[in-house]
Amino acid sequence: MRKKVIAANWKMNGTLEQANSLLDAFAAAPLNVNENKIAVFAVPAPYLMLAKEKLSGNPYLQVAAQNCYSKKSGAYTGEISVEILKSIGINYVVLGHSERREYFGESNAFLAEKVNISLEYGITPIFCCGEPLEIREAETQNAFVAKQLEESLFHLSAEEISKIIIAYEPIWAIGTGKTASNEQAQEMHLSIRAVLAAKYGDVANEIPILYGGSVKASSAVALFAEPDVDGGLVGGASLVADEFIKIINA
Ligand code: 13P
Repeated sequence: MRKKVIAANWKMNGTLEQANSLLDAFAAAPLNVNENKIAVFAVPAPYLMLAKEKLSGNPYLQVAAQNCYSKKSGAYTGEISVEILKSIGINYVVLGHSERREYFGESNAFLAEKVNISLEYGITPIFCCGEPLEIREAETQNAFVAKQLEESLFHLSAEEISKIIIAYEPIWAIGTGKTASNEQAQEMHLSIRAVLAAKYGDVANEIPILYGGSVKASSAVALFAEPDVDGGLVGGASLVADEFIKIINA
């Protein structure tokens, strides 16, 4: 059975005071998580250890970095390595978010290197893919996303790819309040799974595929009921404790 995953992406938001109060709320809330259904919190790097500490009482609440660099260590001022992440007990990293691709020029090939080093250190990549509006309007989104997966992931073995979590985030739905319909999400998730299955066979059924883009508590239940939607990657709504608790429990 593939895991259900609800991931929070705080992006570059929240002061220390706000981080403390959000993490305290999540640590104290009754959350419907277990070995098959986990929640992951991608917090800004300065709060990684704090988040680890605050959420340590529940093994199904995990902490993720929002990015990492492609090298093990060295003279790369300002970057964070997977070696550093592993040494503080981080087991997940978000890679290839559309904001990294757009504002920091991260290419599919560069992301392939980050995927490799993450897996080498036993850190699970939450690998983001998704199309911009003009691609959706041209109705070429399936091929666009397939190319992202092929160029960043398809050099992996079946065993390696079985350790990845994929997050489909249509760029036009991120932070816009305009969510993909449940049907659009399911259609793309099925297409992603078919692309994975064509290359890797049955392993495709083990890979969680999350949806991201304006997920709210009010939309989560129906969205997560779609057969190939295995959870969500949530931005804005993950910064509101009550809202995100409802999304986890959906
Ligand atoms: P929003 O939920 O704010 O649309 O952000 C989605 C996202 O980019 C999560 O990574």
